[in-house]
Amino acid sequence: HDPRRRDFINIAAVSFAGVGAVAIVLPLINQMNPSADVLAQSTTEIDLSKILPGQAIKTSFRKQPLFVRNLTPKEISEADAVDVSTLRDPQTLEERTKAGKKNWLITLGVCTHLGCVPLGAGEGENKGPFGGYFCPCHGSAYDTAARIRKGPAPTNLQVPDYAFNSDTVVTVG
Ligand code: FES
Repeated sequence: HDPRRRDFINIAAVSFAGVGAVAIVLPLINQMNPSADVLAQSTTEIDLSKILPGQAIKTSFRKQPLFVRNLTPKEISEADAVDVSTLRDPQTLEERTKAGKKNWLITLGVCTHLGCVPLGAGEGENKGPFGGYFCPCHGSAYDTAARIRKGPAPTNLQVPDYAFNSDTVVTVG
């Protein structure tokens, strides 16, 4: 009689069952979610040509909502009129956009509080008291540069890495 041998058999049987379960679950996960490194490398190309001043689109980037907004001259001057030193997350519109393309405001559509999707990119949606985006979950209000102005969100809507390929096409990521 060798109790150690027996323990080994029990443990081996348990881990074999474990491996079997993993093998069944993995293919499902792989079908639903590209692996992290594939996601990290993926880019998204966006055609801006149909987005008129004052309009925005909601699209997605690496499985997160992405807002692309063509600011009107009025929205640009509202953003520029703000004293940046009064902001919770101080940034100018210029710092949040590309040189000479201040009208194109590209941000993640993810509230920096707890991750809800703010309103304001869709036609007729509530843009909130600062004219940018409004998060219905706990009332965070963003301005026309998508900077946090009121409510619990700690930081501005995040600007992803992106570059203009031409005047009307950007690649995000
Ligand atoms: Fe947007 Fe809380 S998640 S305010």
